[in-house]
Amino acid sequence: MIKQAIIPLAGLGTRLLPLTSVLAKELLPINGKPGIEYILDECIDAGIKEIIFIISKKKEIIKKYFYNDSFYKKIIKKKNDPRIKKEYQKILKYKKMIKFVYQNRPLGTGDAVLKTKNLIKDNHFLMLLPDDLIIKNNCSKSMIKIHQKFKSSVMASMTVEKKTVSRWGIFKFKNRINKQNSLIEDVVEKPLVKNAPSNKAVIGRYILPKKIFNLLLNQKPGKGGEIHITDAIQKLIKDKEKFIAHNFSGKYLDCGTMHGYINSTLEIARS
Ligand code: UTP
Repeated sequence: MIKQAIIPLAGLGTRLLPLTSVLAKELLPINGKPGIEYILDECIDAGIKEIIFIISKKKEIIKKYFYNDSFYKKIIKKKNDPRIKKEYQKILKYKKMIKFVYQNRPLGTGDAVLKTKNLIKDNHFLMLLPDDLIIKNNCSKSMIKIHQKFKSSVMASMTVEKKTVSRWGIFKFKNRINKQNSLIEDVVEKPLVKNAPSNKAVIGRYILPKKIFNLLLNQKPGKGGEIHITDAIQKLIKDKEKFIAHNFSGKYLDCGTMHGYINSTLEIARS
């Protein structure tokens, strides 16, 4: 069983400036609820027991969100409002599951993952990128089932427009296992349109093997000077680690850009 999840939250969120100049993007409300709570609910519903947040000193507001007990206690004593009591109970439930580690320099997702090395207990763990919301179906839950069935690592996959491939990690497939799942032969971070092996992109849900940490220890910066998790995954695949791309059901919402963020509120409000 996959019991632990990690969530990188130490990025700068520059695409959501000016909002992110004072607030962590993961706390921005999407239809009245902070984006990170959708991700936490997905984890809990998928049976995850422990969640590791990778934050930075600049994003300690995220920790504060879960550790504001004296404030809640004072307000509840004064107002005795059942809604606030319920919200506080929810925060306490989340808090019990979350551990925090720090990545104070945003060197890339691979470097962020490496910060959790000493906390991962089992052979595989789940990683969720909080900018990527998937609604109407629990993608993590489906991926855990695939991991159990095929004894493999898994990544979420989606077809994207060919002209946008340079925004994503892009797969090359070996063979199709069934309608929604394929064995991966290669994955390339942000390829040029002319070099892209397909238009199937990696979306921010991963079931990764613990052995990825050994590769990350020596991982050099790649595209844009960042240490990408995709580059370490590419090496694992070359070393014959079995990776499945799961073409998930459900609707993908990109909350990392201003247009996507606004649209995600509209989509969730409608659903
Ligand atoms: P992104 O590159 O999409 O997000 O990283 P960003 O850097 O926050 O946003 P922009 O590009 O400046 O707008 C994907 C996820 O990985 C985390 C981010 O917080 C985001 O959740 N991340 C990224 C880290 O935790 N550390 C890093 O060094 C880089």
